Amino acid sequence: MKKISFCVLIFVNFLFVSANVSGYRSYKNYKCFNVQGDRLRIERLRHALQESDETLTYADTRDGGEFIVAPHLEDLFNKIVTQENLKTTVVYDDISKIIQSEKSLLRGSKEFSWTAYYDIDDIYKYLTNMSKSYPNLSELIVGGKTYQGRSILGLRINTPSQECTPKPVIFIESGIHAREWIAPATTTYFIKELLTSKDANITALRDQFDWRIFPSVNPDGYHYSYTVDRLWRKTLSRSTNRCFGADPNRNWNYNWGQYSSTHNPCDYQTYAGSRPFSEIETRTLAAYIQSIDNMMAYISFHSYAAMLLLPYSDSTQHVHNYDDLVKVGKSSLDYGYKVNQDKRYQGPGTAAEILYKASGGSMDWVRHALGTPLVFTYELRGNSFHWPPSRIQEQGDEVTQMMLGLVTEANKLGYY
Ligand SMILES: *[C@@H]1O[C@H](CO)[C@@H](O)[C@H](O)[C@H]1NC(C)=O
Ligand SMILES: *[C@@H]1O[C@H](CO)[C@@H](O)[C@H](O)[C@H]1NC(C)=O
Ligand SMILES: *[C@@H]1O[C@H](CO)[C@@H](O)[C@H](O)[C@H]1NC(C)=O
Ligand SMILES: [Zn+2]
Repeated sequence: MKKISFCVLIFVNFLFVSANVSGYRSYKNYKCFNVQGDRLRIERLRHALQESDETLTYADTRDGGEFIVAPHLEDLFNKIVTQENLKTTVVYDDISKIIQSEKSLLRGSKEFSWTAYYDIDDIYKYLTNMSKSYPNLSELIVGGKTYQGRSILGLRINTPSQECTPKPVIFIESGIHAREWIAPATTTYFIKELLTSKDANITALRDQFDWRIFPSVNPDGYHYSYTVDRLWRKTLSRSTNRCFGADPNRNWNYNWGQYSSTHNPCDYQTYAGSRPFSEIETRTLAAYIQSIDNMMAYISFHSYAAMLLLPYSDSTQHVHNYDDLVKVGKSSLDYGYKVNQDKRYQGPGTAAEILYKASGGSMDWVRHALGTPLVFTYELRGNSFHWPPSRIQEQGDEVTQMMLGLVTEANKLGYY
């Protein structure tokens, strides 16, 4: 017995190492389908596919879902889709080609830019460089720790002011889901705009607030997505011998584990963790957030649904300043739309009303535990997790304007 388990151990180890060495999971001939139809029927499709592919990638959408289907499961997929009378369209014929093209554009020059995606070390170097280049305006901050021992690094931008009262804090949390690469890229772009733009509207945006900006609050997962599995979403904490990672946006201590979460540690996407705040990332970040006085706004960036979501994500009941949130959110979307008319965002609205119910997310915890008045989740644009690197700047400019639109209306309504 001992011998056998030893062999198994070596074998598993070998697989793990070789997976790392031989590089990226290829996703060769994996197709991406959009599926429309009755949600229960789509659920049945998902369960059937998951039985044959534990690492199935899917996303719920407003009127259906999106599935990335392995070549050997295409027949099964087609059979169930016909049985269940679901409508499908092919979004991508071969997802590996997109992953390849993204890969070839990784980190072109030595200098940090917004025409490629960068690994976490480069993002951290950029933050460090900015804090050194603009020491009077910014400082490096640590929002928490990760399972693999990284720091959750961010930048505080708090320009000197004559006032004695502290400025209102705007907190930006980005990249909690590892594979949503456009979120960290957009966030570093926004940092660049705040620190280097000469536009008076943007310098005013910078100077009025104490910004706490974290481009990647799941850096272990992001690095794993960058180097091993492009579609990785979770943290990397070890949960069983075989499976690892929890969904950090299902792990916060508010209505934990209820909607759109699973208690199966091997679930590739939405495992809620063994208990609320089981993940060191969410636990330490929550403690950091809790230590901030005077937080006016908490903003979270995800992709890809082109939506603006309001708390709470698992209830259709409205918070007491819901009407204000809608006004502020609309103004934000209008400002964004002025510079980018590619697609109109849906919302603002609660996730429960315009997307689907989900529990244990950061936004809900912040709103409930801290009563932060302005709380928003932006789902950036795209029709997959692969936003073209050549168009990062476009989302960066849009988000910068969205932040301007947000504070402009918040000011009119007396939030600062
Ligand atoms: C660091 O910042 C300075 C000033 O913003 C810039 O000129 C330089 O290229 C940056 N270095 C890197 C490695 O990005
Ligand atoms: C930063 O602040 C120091 C001390 O207040 C000042 O001497 C220096 O000129 C400032 N540097 C810049 C680049 O503004
Ligand atoms: C700055 O904001 C004002 C007021 O919203 C607007 O009229 C103006 O066009 C903005 N300037 C730039 C450069 O966007
Ligand atoms: Zn997300």
